[in-house]
Amino acid sequence: MRFRQKQLNIMDNKLYKKAEQFVIDSFNKANKPQGIKHFLRTVYWLKELDPQADEAMQIAAVAHDIERAFRQNDVMENIEKLSYTATEILRPHEERGAEVIAEFLKKQNADDQIIAKVKMLVSRHEEGGNDEQNLIKDADSLSFLENQIDHFLTVLVKQDGKEKIRGKFDWMFNRITSEKAKQIARPWYENAIKKLD
Ligand SMILES: [Fe+2]
Ligand SMILES: [Fe+2]
Repeated sequence: MRFRQKQLNIMDNKLYKKAEQFVIDSFNKANKPQGIKHFLRTVYWLKELDPQADEAMQIAAVAHDIERAFRQNDVMENIEKLSYTATEILRPHEERGAEVIAEFLKKQNADDQIIAKVKMLVSRHEEGGNDEQNLIKDADSLSFLENQIDHFLTVLVKQDGKEKIRGKFDWMFNRITSEKAKQIARPWYENAIKKLD
């Protein structure tokens, strides 16, 4: 019976829907609702890059930045001191996020294999690694370059300066693995750099 219920959950995407709601609620509660579009568009781009992307991949895509809703002071302090892409920021961002979403899925009585896969994907969504981690990373880059540029150019550039922002734009574009994603992202990236100069 339990197994059958899990099968049904997979078929109607129920677990994904619950995870999406958890992400939306968490960011609203943290008073950071402006990130939500980025998460939903990451799922959109994941499906564009891989129409076969399974439910675990979709959950990882929507929840990849969940750490930001539960951010601790050490990461905040490092962001002020270091570049956005320093390992001291990326690793806790990736790995704490993986723990948070795994905890949530456990409470939903999700299948162990799905939990393990989501955890694996979120835990390297910035750096990539295997093909599936790379897909989440590429979808994240697309969604970032599509939607977050204005926020960086109008708000963050004032506190962080041009060089730090350029570093983030370069990194988000250069880390893309898939040729298709790179083609889609290139005009957004070039436009972002032009506007920054
Ligand atoms: Fe992230
Ligand atoms: Fe992201």
